[in-house]
Amino acid sequence: MHDIIRQLEEKRELARLGGGVKRIEAQHAKGKLTARERLELLLDPGSFEEWDMFVEHRCTDFGMEQQKIPGDGVVTGYGTINGRMVFVFSQDFTVFGGALSQAHAEKICKVMDHAMKVGAPVIGLNDSGGARIQEGVASLGGYADVFQRNVMASGVVPQISMIMGPCAGGAVYSPAMTDFIFMVKDTSYMFVTGPEVVKTVTHEEVTAEELGGAVTHNSKSGVADLAFENDVDALLMLRRFFNYLPLNNREKAPLRPTTDPAERLDMSLDTLVPDNPNKPYDMKELIGKIVDDGDFFELQPDYAKNILIGFARMEGQTVGIVANQPLVLAGCLDIKSSIKAARFVRFCDAFSIPVITLVDVPGFMPGTSQEYGGIIKHGAKLLYAYAECTVPKVTVITRKAYGGAYDVMSSKHLRGDVNFAWPSAEIAVMGPKGAVEIIFRKDIGDVEKIAERTEEYRQKFANPFIAGSRGFIDDVIMPNETRKRICRSLAMLKHKKLENPWRKHGNIPL
Ligand code: HXC
Repeated sequence: MHDIIRQLEEKRELARLGGGVKRIEAQHAKGKLTARERLELLLDPGSFEEWDMFVEHRCTDFGMEQQKIPGDGVVTGYGTINGRMVFVFSQDFTVFGGALSQAHAEKICKVMDHAMKVGAPVIGLNDSGGARIQEGVASLGGYADVFQRNVMASGVVPQISMIMGPCAGGAVYSPAMTDFIFMVKDTSYMFVTGPEVVKTVTHEEVTAEELGGAVTHNSKSGVADLAFENDVDALLMLRRFFNYLPLNNREKAPLRPTTDPAERLDMSLDTLVPDNPNKPYDMKELIGKIVDDGDFFELQPDYAKNILIGFARMEGQTVGIVANQPLVLAGCLDIKSSIKAARFVRFCDAFSIPVITLVDVPGFMPGTSQEYGGIIKHGAKLLYAYAECTVPKVTVITRKAYGGAYDVMSSKHLRGDVNFAWPSAEIAVMGPKGAVEIIFRKDIGDVEKIAERTEEYRQKFANPFIAGSRGFIDDVIMPNETRKRICRSLAMLKHKKLENPWRKHGNIPL
């Protein structure tokens, strides 16, 4: 018996060492933690239950039968974050560069299958050179097995990818199908093909950082949702982020009690919108002043900055916030911002998180680059997302709600449950200047007449009352009472039930 216990301990010790001391030191020298150190930080102390520590690859080519490391490059299992269940896999770069073998894939699939059975999220800590080259098609098959599970789990349990090292080839497509992708600055990369292949095929010379570093994916491509300073920062923030999410699509997000009163007024909001309709203001200020304790977990802060998305809480309940940002491109909707917000709205809808929409939008961005880029199709994504969304939807129009963008931004017509407007709201087909130049084109030379017509138009449409008279706006509220009115609306909507007609699935304009 003693021998067997000793053997077990030796085997465990070997597995814990991964690719060996030298490679662990190399990992540390790059400023990276090991797969196990990462899990220790992510999960509640002592909560990790590891599975498949003794799994080994089955490859016999290229001398691989001589190189077997228990665990085969990925640490898997389950544990808790602030007491709530989560399934995890953490790729070990010290073992064949975290490359995915068939056995490695089977380990990931096993935790994903269990996560689906018990209804708990999956977090992947990715640090991998992609398909294990020595295994060929067995490895490609392993990837596809993971992809298939990503798709089946989509909308059932939240899936989060933390990119903590290189992720090349197949290693990027599984994260791409998860709900959120976070990256670590300077040490993580994502690309379908690396700089060497790029050079050969397109003759472009580009560094790994430029091609697929955290800055690239958080500001240029929009692939990632956030970038963190280092491994420790990333994992601690991931714990915080996790607290906003429900465990699965049948449960509500956890309630976090707050001392911030639901009826709290904020007088400073009465002067947030400048008198000059062309002067911008910071929509983040409004968000900070209405949510619990001013705490807004913003996603994609450096991408498509003309729209803001993120999680917050109202009376302790998680809400998704979507808000036009007048500080950037006057808050116009363009291709990037439409896609950014649409995916977020769909996540909220899939996981029963109410959506609060703050509107100040002068319309869709005009121009050839937008039209050639397909703004019609991409803008329609946001329209589609809001229209199919059945969770509680509360909308506040602070200033402009012009044209199609008025319709899109969770309007009454798209089943907005409660639609408020501030007295400064302007709800019209377009702004006064553009409108008058079209409908009174023949008077364009007559400055006085145009000024008169513009004023007439402003009087008629640059206010919330016409929309109010039709019931498109439920009430015109004082800015200072915005939090109170939203909290009351959400309380009223707590048991909202709304279902879309049965269908296999809709066909969102992709
Ligand atoms: C097997 C691999 C590997 C791989 C790295 N290693 N990638 N082993 N298969 N894909 C091994 C190395 O041999 C090395 O072993 C160790 O991991 C560390 O790698 P280094 O190159 O020394 O590290 P570094 O300089 O940090 O570079 C990391 C890297 C680079 C950027 C990830 O290794 C790399 O470019 N790897 C190949 C990436 C790639 O093209 N993958 C296949 C993509 S195709 P030792 O023993 O020396 O420590 C793909 C298809 C799937 O994934 C498609 C599905 C849709």
